[in-house]
Amino acid sequence: MSDRSILLIITGGVAAFKSLELIRELGRAGVKSRVILTKAAQEFVTPLSVSALSGEKCFTELFDLNDESEMGHIELSRSTDLVVVCPASADIMGKAANGLANDLASTALLATDKQVLYAPAMNVRMWQHPAVQRNVETLRADGAIVLEPDEGVMACGEFGPGRLPEVSRLKEEILFALAPDKSLAGKHIVITAGPTREPIDPVRYISNHSSGRQGYAIAASLRAKGADVTLISGPVSIAPPDGVELVKVETAREMLAASEAALPANAFISVAAVADWRPASESDTKLKLKGGEEPVTMAFAENPDILKAISNHASQRPDLVIGFAAETHELHKHAQGKLARKGCDWIIANDVSGDVMGGENNEVTLFSKSGAEASPRMTKSRIADWIAERIAKALS
Ligand code: C5P
Repeated sequence: MSDRSILLIITGGVAAFKSLELIRELGRAGVKSRVILTKAAQEFVTPLSVSALSGEKCFTELFDLNDESEMGHIELSRSTDLVVVCPASADIMGKAANGLANDLASTALLATDKQVLYAPAMNVRMWQHPAVQRNVETLRADGAIVLEPDEGVMACGEFGPGRLPEVSRLKEEILFALAPDKSLAGKHIVITAGPTREPIDPVRYISNHSSGRQGYAIAASLRAKGADVTLISGPVSIAPPDGVELVKVETAREMLAASEAALPANAFISVAAVADWRPASESDTKLKLKGGEEPVTMAFAENPDILKAISNHASQRPDLVIGFAAETHELHKHAQGKLARKGCDWIIANDVSGDVMGGENNEVTLFSKSGAEASPRMTKSRIADWIAERIAKALS
């Protein structure tokens, strides 16, 4: 990393002091920081302390004759490998998302041709405000990396997401952005995600509450590592990650057919919440009320087990077949049983007895024939990275 450099834009916020430690930590990893301080940031850290740590002049003004003659703002924004905004205030993200440029920091963000990484830090209500969330979406759609803030007690006394992540994580994210890990390049990975929908008649179906989020996040993490990803998805309301091949299906039988058609693959990951049963017959016309007192009954047929079918594929079994298990108790016992029953290589189990369903965070345990490994409690996208790292290692 010794020839790498970042342009670090520090904006105003109580977390600004952490950026000083970040400069030092990156320096230890061989990454040079050239720094822009906004006016508000100077209320929290001084250009002098920044220069002392970075060993470089600190830039603050857009129309400064000295600065512009030494290094113009255009060059400043481009003679770097990565632009990092840390901490990123609601204000700077609002400006960047809307193309505003009225100071050195916002002008550099508009002029740069480099990847930009934002590490937001603000009050929880500000972070959750629809306007801020809209701006975050826009920045991500424009190709920027926007880290999820940490959750905890804030300087203002409120609790929730909005804290600047720890310096160790910031450093890790920056080093990753500087040298992306493409260890899955050339590997084809098939993932199923979301629910399936089993028709009763032309207007009714049975299904489940799966949002598809964890499966989509895993697809994104694998793609980021260079894999060719086929994402076979039941009906969900979220957008697929960039660069993955999306195959939309409705029923379990369609999902099985699409999974088999996507082979050969180096790995198959069954994240979908496949409906266990389907109505034994689908009516061509809308079923009518009979108006009687008799209970209405319906016959069900069992759906194919897709994970089991791919695990036992006669000619094209992928090298690594992974299933998921959501359990409320006896995680170990059920996961081990499922490994044997389905014939897969790993079961990734999560304990859904707490607040995992629909929540931001998750923690999982990876069971394989050789043992079990538990993840820390993290956001669902960090869990996806954690899983992707282990898949990359297993396929290397
Ligand atoms: O047996 P259980 O439904 O708990 O197993 C969960 C795992 O099996 C998940 O990986 C799920 O995607 C997969 N599965 C499947 N086909 C089914 C039922 C579950 O692929 N019909």
